[in-house]
Amino acid sequence: MRDPNKETSPTDRVYPGLEGVLAGESAICDVEETTGGLFYRGYRIEDLAERASFEEVAYLLLMEKLPNRKELSDFREALAQSRTLPEGTPRFLKSIPPTVNPMDFLRTAVSFLGLEDPDRGSNDHAANVQKATRLIGQIPSLLAAFKNGTGESPPSDPSLSHAANILYLLTGKRPDPFSAKVMDVSLILYAEHEFNASTFAARVTVSSLSDMHSGITSAIGSLKGPLHGGANEAVMKMLLEIGGAENAERYLRERLARKERIMGFGHRVLKTGDIRSDIIKKYAKELAERKNDRKWFDLSSRIEEIMRREKGLRPNLDFYSASAYYLLGLPIEFDTPLFVCSRISGWSAHVIEQHDHNRLIRPRCLYTGPRDLPYVPTESRP
Ligand SMILES: CC(C)(COP(=O)(O)OP(=O)(O)OC[C@H]1O[C@@H](n2cnc3c(N)ncnc32)[C@H](O)[C@@H]1OP(=O)(O)O)[C@@H](O)C(=O)NCCC(=O)NCCS
Repeated sequence: MRDPNKETSPTDRVYPGLEGVLAGESAICDVEETTGGLFYRGYRIEDLAERASFEEVAYLLLMEKLPNRKELSDFREALAQSRTLPEGTPRFLKSIPPTVNPMDFLRTAVSFLGLEDPDRGSNDHAANVQKATRLIGQIPSLLAAFKNGTGESPPSDPSLSHAANILYLLTGKRPDPFSAKVMDVSLILYAEHEFNASTFAARVTVSSLSDMHSGITSAIGSLKGPLHGGANEAVMKMLLEIGGAENAERYLRERLARKERIMGFGHRVLKTGDIRSDIIKKYAKELAERKNDRKWFDLSSRIEEIMRREKGLRPNLDFYSASAYYLLGLPIEFDTPLFVCSRISGWSAHVIEQHDHNRLIRPRCLYTGPRDLPYVPTESRP
């Protein structure tokens, strides 16, 4: 990797895509480039995925420590309360055309929630924690309201975990324990990944001392793109297009020959593999076996083999999440919004950290356009 300390000429100092640049300090998450390992506030992702719940992880990211029993129960209660959307929101949501993409819906809806948030005038730490907690509870209800098409979310079941409630809201059925576990693990894995594009967008936005909802609105806009969160949805569309493991070789060869990107593979930072992909793969496999429907998992495994052989590329988290969400009975267009349901925890932890140690993010660019052009009056221009 290039070393910014050794660069001398102005061109040498340009890092397209900020690749390899340490753009700030953070105590939230550590991504180990060489091993693909991942730690949230010092805890290994393997331990969190296996032993914690999403609620514990969200608490850890926001409050900088794992909750004790009472703290967890209070946090769960706060999330449950915020699942009921503020009074004016359903009316506003109803005015959004039902044909929009759910990511556009979420981006617009979160921006609206900022107008109704009781702490909207404050960026202080306590107000930010309140806003973050509310957003974590509210976002699945927004998605359910989108699905309903009436602006109203169906009622949540407060006895369910956050993950189980999401499945309940989106499928109308209380999930079996293993399905709820798969959703919980996926929420934990998606929760945080340091300075990825959407998190950085949130930090840039609030570094002007703008507010949490503005930062999260920016983040959702960034996540939507297929090179970032939009990849999980694109993966499932690809699996359906390929149709079965027997077609994978031909499909991939054709795409790779045209230099097309295969969604769900590669990563800007993790070039040797991603522990999150290994974890979700294990759950996707067990889910496929329990549901007695291995078609999408087998196709995914075949694609993984071919991509490793042909391009030396490893799957990222989005790859096996796609077939897992599909088997959980979730509409494909909800794959990226589910990423939002999880990453809201990491984004808001970053907004809080940015506000608590703020420095305006304002880099420079190397100007490459012309200079000293003569000004010609409008009437004399060709
Ligand atoms: C995530 C991603 C944008 C990172 O890209 P990056 O760091 O900019 O990597 P590069 O564009 O420098 O790619 C390096 C090489 O790998 C290839 N490559 C990277 N990802 C690829 C993919 N998914 N399919 C096919 N080839 C890929 C590039 O074409 C390039 O090959 P070349 O050197 O022969 O031109 C990229 O891997 C990608 O587009 N993946 C698909 C989308 C996706 O899954 N996004 C979710 C990310 S978590």
